Amino acid sequence: MAYNDFSMDHHWLPFTPNRHFRKEPRVFVGADGMHFTTHDGRKVVDGVSSLWCVGAGHNRKPINEAIKKQLDTLDYATAFQASNDKAFQAADMIAAMAPGDLNKVLFCNSGSEAADTSLKVALAYHRARGEGHRNVFIGREKGYHGVGFGGMSVGGIPANRKVYGNAFLPRVDHMRFIHDPVNHAYIHNEQPLWQEDILAELENRILPLHDPSNVAAIIVEPVAGSAGWYLPPKGYLQRLREICDKHGILLIFDEVITGFGRMGTNFAADFYGVVPDMLNFAKCVTNGVIPLGGVICRDKLYDAMMKTEAPEHVVEFFHGYTYSGHPVACAAAIATLDLYKQENLFQRAGEMGKVLGDACHGAFKGLPNVIGIRSLGLAAAVELAPLAGAPGKRAYQIFLDCFHKGALVRPAGDVLVIAPPYIVEKQHIDTLVNTLADSIRQHA
Ligand SMILES: Cc1ncc(COP(=O)(O)O)c(C=O)c1O
Repeated sequence: MAYNDFSMDHHWLPFTPNRHFRKEPRVFVGADGMHFTTHDGRKVVDGVSSLWCVGAGHNRKPINEAIKKQLDTLDYATAFQASNDKAFQAADMIAAMAPGDLNKVLFCNSGSEAADTSLKVALAYHRARGEGHRNVFIGREKGYHGVGFGGMSVGGIPANRKVYGNAFLPRVDHMRFIHDPVNHAYIHNEQPLWQEDILAELENRILPLHDPSNVAAIIVEPVAGSAGWYLPPKGYLQRLREICDKHGILLIFDEVITGFGRMGTNFAADFYGVVPDMLNFAKCVTNGVIPLGGVICRDKLYDAMMKTEAPEHVVEFFHGYTYSGHPVACAAAIATLDLYKQENLFQRAGEMGKVLGDACHGAFKGLPNVIGIRSLGLAAAVELAPLAGAPGKRAYQIFLDCFHKGALVRPAGDVLVIAPPYIVEKQHIDTLVNTLADSIRQHA
């Protein structure tokens, strides 16, 4: 297939430099297992699970078959005032996998919608308990919670704030970022140990500034994924949980990337042993095959909203999407979660994460411009010194070069990330890491 077999005049690509893309298009036409096929017949190793989604690898028959069967059985049904069997089954499975009493699943279609849904649950929950004044949200610098106005507001991505900041939610503050480039530039399958108490700022400055009684929720990614795989200091999430409990503040984990196996456990909440009040998910829940996201809520959130004086015909939580719990997406989720379990893929992710971490630290340390390497779970990041006056350019060029050499890695600012499907073999890791190392050398 050649580029002139299809027009490139109408598809406006998301989060992509479109002008450059037209000069050097990258178009996939097929995928199987660990590999893509490009329009010109080349094989490319999927080193990022296609945006952290494809845990079980591409073209998995049990998922494909479940989708086909669902299409022939119940293609779609209204999500409001009725539901479908697959939505209930998928919610059962997800709740069973989630820790603690995270038991009630609100479905949506994406991580962005999950972020906005969780913020709305927080407001509605506090209001239902007579604490409607709790409407301050706290996020963290460099946090990524998608592209809706709620998620962007609590997120800490400068490019979002630059262009859209004037339309953000008004009562939002941010904790400082969790990276120490001096003492913790290199993290090798371990949790960084900080001397400093990085949450003292939350307790001593941010909460007193707003008064803790006004704070509805704190939202964090347990591991900052989109920013470039930055790991929380040891004990950080436990302490965040304690602070939230002390002040009646809800804790939201955005596990759109870390959920469903990336850390070698069901969720990062399990990995770190901390149960949030809400847990946002998307991506790997369907192996990326069909959009599905959601928020898993603790019982107390649901119970508070059901304990209303309103008559029974009144909607308790005024929120939902046309495609909340879409039967085809939920059928895909059921098959995906079954497949993860049958093939023990989360455990495998944990094991291969160590192989990936070893390979990355072995290959990248000491290469030109490398200023940090971080690995934990089945993901690793190599951080590069930016080109003077052109932040992000070096990593973007390296990403392009790797692609030409048959390896898909992910640039995030001046960081390059490898986060392969859980089915990855040592040989794929070697290909990804060696290709990236060569490219880093070439772009010195
Ligand atoms: C932590 C986190 N939250 C939310 C999102 C947004 O998800 P989506 O692109 O499905 O809207 C992402 C996307 O990468 C993410 O990493």
